Amino acid sequence: MNSVIEAILQRRSIKQYTGEQVTDEELEQIIKCGLYAPNGRSAQAPVFVAVRDKQTRDLLSKLNAEVMGSGEDPFYGAPCVICVLADAQRSTAVEDGSLALGNMCLAAHSLGLGSCWIHRCRQVFETPKGKELLEKWGVQGDLIGVGFCILGRSTQQKEPAPRRDNRVYYVD
Ligand SMILES: Cc1cc2nc3c(=O)[nH]c(=O)nc-3n(C[C@H](O)[C@H](O)[C@H](O)COP(=O)(O)O)c2cc1C
Repeated sequence: MNSVIEAILQRRSIKQYTGEQVTDEELEQIIKCGLYAPNGRSAQAPVFVAVRDKQTRDLLSKLNAEVMGSGEDPFYGAPCVICVLADAQRSTAVEDGSLALGNMCLAAHSLGLGSCWIHRCRQVFETPKGKELLEKWGVQGDLIGVGFCILGRSTQQKEPAPRRDNRVYYVD
C-alpha cells in the first residue's frame, strides 16, 4: 500500500490531547497542504487563521461551546486551532474549505500529530465576538467559517468504525 493511501486509511479524528504545542515547521507544512487543496475555479478562496495563543484559543473554544450550550471544551484540550473561512460570495465556499480541512487533517496525521474537524465555525464567526476577532486579526472580506482544524499531540489510538455496506455502485 502506498503511503498516501495508508495515511487516508489510518487517520482518525483525535479527541484527546497532551497539550504539547505543535512546532512552527509542523504548522507551516500542514497549512501548506490546506493551501494546495483543489478549489473551485482555482479561486483559492479559503482563508486560514492559525491560533496557538492560549488566550485566543480558549476564547474560540468558549464561543464554540456557547453555540452548543455546553460548558465543555469542544477542542478537547488541543493547543492549536486552525480556523478555515471562505469567501461567502463563492458558490464553492464550503466545498473549498472542506477540502482544505481534509488535506490538513491528513497532513497532520502524516506528521504524527492528532487532528479533528470541529464544527460550528460558521456560527462562531457570525457572533459579534467572532467578528471582532476577525477584525483584530486583520482578516477582511465577506467570509463564512467552514470549520476548525484542531491540532496537537496525542497518545490516543483509534480504530476506524466499520464502513457501512451498500454505499458503492459500479457502472461498468
Ligand atoms: C463536517 C464535520 C464536522 C465535524 N464536527 C465535529 C465536532 O464538532 N466535534 C467532534 O468531536 N468531531 C467532529 N467531527 C469529527 C467526526 O466526529 C469524525 O470524523 C467521525 O467520527 C469519524 O471518525 P474518524 O474521522 O476518526 O474516521 C466532524 C467531522 C466532520 C467531517
